Amino acid sequence: MSSNIILGVKKEEDPSENRVSIVPKDIKAIIALGIDVNVEKGAGVKAGYSDEEYINSGATILENINENTSLVTSVNAFYNNNSNFIKNSFVISLSDIRTNPEITKTCKENSISLFAMEFVPRIARAQKLDALSSQASIAGYRAGLIAATSLKKYLPLMMTAAGTIPPSSILVLGAGVAGLQAIATTKRLGADVTGYDIRLAAGEQIESLGAKFISDEVPEDTETKGGYAKEQTKDNQKTQLEFLKEYILKSDAVITTAAIPGRKAPILIEKTTVEQMKPGSVIIDLSASSGGNCEYTKLGEIVNINGTLVNGPNNLSSDMAYDASIVYSKNIFGLLEIIMEDKQININLEDEIIDAMLVFENGKSRIEG
Ligand code: NAI
Repeated sequence: MSSNIILGVKKEEDPSENRVSIVPKDIKAIIALGIDVNVEKGAGVKAGYSDEEYINSGATILENINENTSLVTSVNAFYNNNSNFIKNSFVISLSDIRTNPEITKTCKENSISLFAMEFVPRIARAQKLDALSSQASIAGYRAGLIAATSLKKYLPLMMTAAGTIPPSSILVLGAGVAGLQAIATTKRLGADVTGYDIRLAAGEQIESLGAKFISDEVPEDTETKGGYAKEQTKDNQKTQLEFLKEYILKSDAVITTAAIPGRKAPILIEKTTVEQMKPGSVIIDLSASSGGNCEYTKLGEIVNINGTLVNGPNNLSSDMAYDASIVYSKNIFGLLEIIMEDKQININLEDEIIDAMLVFENGKSRIEG
């Protein structure tokens, strides 16, 4: 009998989630770490991976993972707090632990050790396991495509026998991982693209993609040590809204991605601005799940305001589940490589990555004050 560590791949319980946490092509490398892989029946089907592919890669298909499982992987393990949680297991998953107190209860009750994928430190060594970046990049790409297909216009300049059509102008607010990918995507499609971010450091990255960078009189300390944006004061926010309005009204599509980790998203587009936009304009608000950058945004809905569409998509990376799962699976593999030593789980809390991502240890919170 094998005494290998057992990893269980959960079938996602959220009906709107198409991704799977481990893809077949990573199974061989996981087994080489000394881990046997069990996959819940049909876990990969919505992402495009059949049970057969998992079996052919060396995994076992089970109806449900069982109590022998030491490592449980998922995209969103805590969608259902009454799920079949394995006591004393390590759960590796994205979670909304900052805002959902039920997760704390679940981890305590089941003595779970939780590696929260969204707690990845933004350092070079952690890039391989950075699920925030891998998924945000896909969302940014999709947002660019949605902009392209929602507009009643060409993106590129078109010279036709029937006349010349100017390119669409696209404004991207927030140029982190998602915003930069939205810029790159719409730029490749030929649009006239402008980018904006409160962090001045983003300006160079926007310009390196061939887009224009706009900047207002922002205070100097807009960035935390970790590279994230700081929340703005009320006064700064007012100046920012006034500055942006002119550019928003000139744009055909605005893609917004501005976020502050663990906080409500900043408002960058007021209702009155939307009401004055050209009919046929489009806003795609990638911050919809954290409250939205536009005052009219409704999560998971497209609202029509005087002919301007305000789209607040939910979980765009799930819409591209095949590739989103490939990169997420690689992110998890990156973590497994760190926690496995000589075919055993070895948790080294002195490792900066482990220290940041292990938010629960045997049911005890490591982040509560
Ligand atoms: P995020 O999702 O937290 O925010 C998206 C963007 O919104 C950020 O660029 C932020 O500056 C901007 N923003 C926030 N408030 C704003 C406001 N009021 N107005 C305009 N823009 C606003 O950011 P993300 O994509 O997670 O990236 C955060 C930082 O981490 C970036 O500096 C990025 O370059 C860095 N990073 C570092 C990595 C590494 O070193 N391993 C990997 C990935 C990202």
